[in-house]
Amino acid sequence: LKRVGILTGGGDCSGLNAVIRAVTRTAIIQYGAEVVGLEDGFDGLVFNRTMPLTTRSTKDILTLGGTILGTTNKGNPFAYREFDDRGEIVVRDLSAQAMATFRSLELDCLFVVGGEGTLELGYKFQQMGMPVVGIPKTIDNDLFGTDYTFGFQTAVQVACDAMDRLHTTGRSHDRVMILEVMGRNAGWIALEAGLAGGAHIILIPEIPYNLDNVVTKIRHRIRGKSPFSIIMVAEGAREEGGERITQGTAGTRLQGVEQLGGIGFHLANQIRERIPLEVRTTVLGHIQRGGSPTAFDRVLGTRLGAAAVDAAARGDFGTMVALKTPDIVLVPLSELAGLCRTVPVDHQLLRAAEATGVNLGRGAM
Ligand code: F6P
Repeated sequence: LKRVGILTGGGDCSGLNAVIRAVTRTAIIQYGAEVVGLEDGFDGLVFNRTMPLTTRSTKDILTLGGTILGTTNKGNPFAYREFDDRGEIVVRDLSAQAMATFRSLELDCLFVVGGEGTLELGYKFQQMGMPVVGIPKTIDNDLFGTDYTFGFQTAVQVACDAMDRLHTTGRSHDRVMILEVMGRNAGWIALEAGLAGGAHIILIPEIPYNLDNVVTKIRHRIRGKSPFSIIMVAEGAREEGGERITQGTAGTRLQGVEQLGGIGFHLANQIRERIPLEVRTTVLGHIQRGGSPTAFDRVLGTRLGAAAVDAAARGDFGTMVALKTPDIVLVPLSELAGLCRTVPVDHQLLRAAEATGVNLGRGAM
């Protein structure tokens, strides 16, 4: 390896900088290569916006949240959206321009750090002849092919801390406290943080909830010694037979406009109509994605970054590095397209939750 490039695409999460640092240090220390950072995802490749990455410039970033390279989930080079002179949106294919930049930078390979969408773009460039190694990233932990993505554990820890705080205030006021966390299609964050935080009810997208079942659980608690209830709900959760309410985060987005009130608020209204207790909703939103990564995510990011450079040195392109506990393995990028790793409805975590009295809002089975 003589010269390698790296970009981060899609939504950020904690641990991205650990990956950037690991790729940079491994490429330099093990292979004597130069490392070029591309700014703002694929935009950096299209418009030739780069920064040199060295052991010095990546010093002290292991613990830093976000990405020093910047990111965007809007810059798809195959369908790039811009405003023309009249303010109208035009869509152009700038993939050839990105390929030209890649060649002019004389890169031996590109490390693409991202979620499903970003990795799919990486695969498209691989098919055009660009040597690509993917590194999986999403706080949702719903990427196929890897046991865990970095950023997930950090998000779970943040959500768990929030649960601990909701517990004390919920108990003091005898209220129903709802925490809405991220997870559009998969309920991993809600499930793990709900278990860790002692939620009484956990609602995930994979199990459309039955309102009667949820209300019965709250009523049962009201009759007991601790009348308060803590509900963990994933943003993608929905009622049986109902539509998904939260689109994105912090509420519903209609035509790009943020509206107050996602699933957490909707559920609160449903419960208020049936239960005499006060109900409060907290939407955790992007707090889950910011800040310093947990030790687990720092280690995972470092392992994936180092393994990605080793894979490139061996010429194993068109692959993604992945955690198959306890190993880091390679998965072909071609096997990932369009797959989302949701929570299987008979997963052991769900079993552990129900065995310990957590209500998952399941309908009649
Ligand atoms: O996919 C990661 C994720 O954080 C989701 O959990 C969430 O729905 C979405 O991204 C938020 O995206 P944005 O930052 O564009 O609001």
